Amino acid sequence: MKVVSDIPELRAWREGLRGERKLAFVPTMGNLHEGHLTLVRRARELADEVVVSIFVNPLQFGPGEDFDAYPRTLDADLSALAPEGVTRVFVPERSAIYPEDEAAQTRVHVPLISDILCGAHRPGHFDGVATVVAKLFALVAPEVAVFGRKDYQQLAVIRRMTADLGLPVAIEGVDTIRDADGLALSSRNAYLTGDERERAPLLYATLRWIADRLTDSETDFAHLTGAGLARLEDAGMRPEYLEVRQAGTLAPARPEGRNLVVLAAAYLGRARLIDNIEVHR
Ligand code: PAJ
Repeated sequence: MKVVSDIPELRAWREGLRGERKLAFVPTMGNLHEGHLTLVRRARELADEVVVSIFVNPLQFGPGEDFDAYPRTLDADLSALAPEGVTRVFVPERSAIYPEDEAAQTRVHVPLISDILCGAHRPGHFDGVATVVAKLFALVAPEVAVFGRKDYQQLAVIRRMTADLGLPVAIEGVDTIRDADGLALSSRNAYLTGDERERAPLLYATLRWIADRLTDSETDFAHLTGAGLARLEDAGMRPEYLEVRQAGTLAPARPEGRNLVVLAAAYLGRARLIDNIEVHR
């Protein structure tokens, strides 16, 4: 495993593979946990060589969001990756990814799907994600890239972008990795106090409760999400949204819909938690 921050060095290595060795890519912002490592293990199953990137992308953080506070733990991340069979860890400087004025940087905008749910509460967030992922795809040139279903809308945005731009990258989704009490692993869980950590599993429990009602053929989505929002608020969370949508496209769910997803975002203290469950009925 070699750590590379220089783009020409990464490109030279990539060109040396000459299509003979299949390459899988796992983009991350670091502070790696079992969720990220599960993506890496999936990448290894899919390809001969694995590149992991670690880059806290300023373009996807809004003003007043946690860009400065975001946990940066490079030494621990490299130790976690060392036994995982990774070929290259790409750790670019901000100036390598954005050498020019960031305000003048070309942006990738995936319309409609970027503007709902998390996108409605974090304007420009998915433009920042799509832009950096497109750029990383161009630099790394992988055959396949692996993303978590925990960031369900992000995965949908990336699938759409990849299809619309005809990027020659297969997109692979991996199920959400959780702690034993149901809380989805996330770098932002580090912001939770001890007391908040004890209350945090309520988000997944609430989604699970709604998912189970949906499986039982419940069609009154507004009733379910209204009850769910009240549960979250009663526990001191500050939900941004809790919605039932069509799986995959995130279009509005119809009562007769068979493939659904229930998604939520909620603040608990300083931490913004997101989670989702797909339901097939
Ligand atoms: P980051 O939050 O570091 O997540 C990197 C990848 O790990 C994403 O695909 C995310 O969905 C996945 N992941 C995070 N927690 C997970 C969990 N508990 N189970 C399964 N997968 C999980 O997402 C980003 O970084 C950035 O937006 C990025 C795509 C790197 C662009 O900057």
